[in-house]
Amino acid sequence: MSFPHSNRDTGNTAVVGLQWGDEGKGKIVDVLTAGHDVIVRYNGGANAGHTVVVGSERYALHLIPSGILYPDKTCVIGNGVVVDPEKLLEEAEGLRARGVAVGGNLRLSDRAHVVLPYHKEQDAALEDYLATKTAGDRGTLAIGTTRRGIGPAYADKVQRSTAIRIGDLLDRNYLRERLRVICRLRTAELQALGVSAAPLDADALAERFADLGDRLRPHVVDSVYFLHDCQKEGRRILFEGANACLLDIDHGTYPYVTSSNCSTAGIHSGTGVPGTNIARVLGIMKAYSTRVGAGPFPTELNNELGARIRERGREFGTTTGRPRRCGWLDLVAVKYSAMVCGATGIACTLFDVLTGFDELRICTAYRLADGTTTGRFIPDAKRLEGVTPVYETLTGWSETIRDASDRAALPAAARDYLDRIEAIVGLPIEMVGVGPERSQTLVTA
Ligand code: GDP
Ligand code: IMO
Ligand code: MG
Repeated sequence: MSFPHSNRDTGNTAVVGLQWGDEGKGKIVDVLTAGHDVIVRYNGGANAGHTVVVGSERYALHLIPSGILYPDKTCVIGNGVVVDPEKLLEEAEGLRARGVAVGGNLRLSDRAHVVLPYHKEQDAALEDYLATKTAGDRGTLAIGTTRRGIGPAYADKVQRSTAIRIGDLLDRNYLRERLRVICRLRTAELQALGVSAAPLDADALAERFADLGDRLRPHVVDSVYFLHDCQKEGRRILFEGANACLLDIDHGTYPYVTSSNCSTAGIHSGTGVPGTNIARVLGIMKAYSTRVGAGPFPTELNNELGARIRERGREFGTTTGRPRRCGWLDLVAVKYSAMVCGATGIACTLFDVLTGFDELRICTAYRLADGTTTGRFIPDAKRLEGVTPVYETLTGWSETIRDASDRAALPAAARDYLDRIEAIVGLPIEMVGVGPERSQTLVTA
């Protein structure tokens, strides 16, 4: 008896963020798309903002996978994603207006959950409420979400009876009946948070979302069978993580995280493709650290150096435009994420941003309140807030590296910085980003 699909080395790759997001995943996915056939988003929603720069064109992708710029590839929005249908259609229209084909090449899971307008209202109302509340001396309790309705939509998914999936949009009568019940409950909840005095109009919402469902219908598939069929045909799948490991609901700096498994843990649940089918996991890390929103950030630089990194790296949110908090590279955090995600290699992005600093620092351990040090990350906000980073200092370089063609062409100090990352994390750096443009990517392993 032969088992034709028992060979699991399928040529699939996972791309996952190893920090707090915005590591340049979109750019790396765009580059890797050339060697894959199907590009899949498995988690998150329009909280993600993935940038791809091709020549003078800059694309900001939120729900559509970053492989969409290649017309001969298929992009899939998996069941683990929470989809705001209006945002998705708007994004598709925006791409079409710029000459990017978005048609049969975009597939959407019938089991992906829908972000409804009341989710966004709940998200904003809760954040506004928490912004006025504190616990101890830790500032306000607001998470600093993107206000895209992500948390409330995933909460409904777990709650079950109050959730709407993409497939539900395709049955107008069923949708209306469900929304009549949900809207009654949701109106009361919103009123308790002090907003939206007028009751939600379930029938109007049902018509609007059934119409959106009609527009999405041509894209809707059973994405799990679709992906497995692709594998049987020998097509190679690229999994595009959104958000990042330190924002993972289970493995991140809880509660200052997002509401999905954005580490590789989310791939199996969010696509139906098991991890055993993925031989290569590329962890993406920028050459320093950033974070948007609230939560602990041990290596944060609240000074001129941080401002310089922000300015050089143009560190402003792709989704919300908020200035990103900036700091030195935290390898305790990166090493932890690489471990959790099962990374087989690393891409080090935004390396060019570090040009021009006299010296650079890398955090290799944390000093705890009792004076001891640890090389272990602490995925809990309250405890992580108390650590002091232990740094190693490296020499900087002043030469521009944006035109470098390979690793050997980099200044010696820049090569040392990469060598040190590899030695500490224990993984090869396979790619180095030396500029935002697609071509400014060195393949180094
Ligand atoms: P993502 O969410 O992980 O896809 O990252 P974002 O797109 O939110 O943020 C990364 C930012 O850095 C974007 O503006 C990219 O265009 C830019 N970028 C990506 N790689 C590089 C790089 O190697 N060098 C520079 N200077 N910019 C980069
Ligand atoms: P990409 O894919 C950076 C952060 C938010 C907030 C927290 C919770 O572009 O890397 P949410 O709206 O998800 O409930 O917000 O998570 N966050 C991100 N930060 N990049 C992202 O995505 C993020 N997605 C969520 O800023 O602190
Ligand atoms: Mg981003």
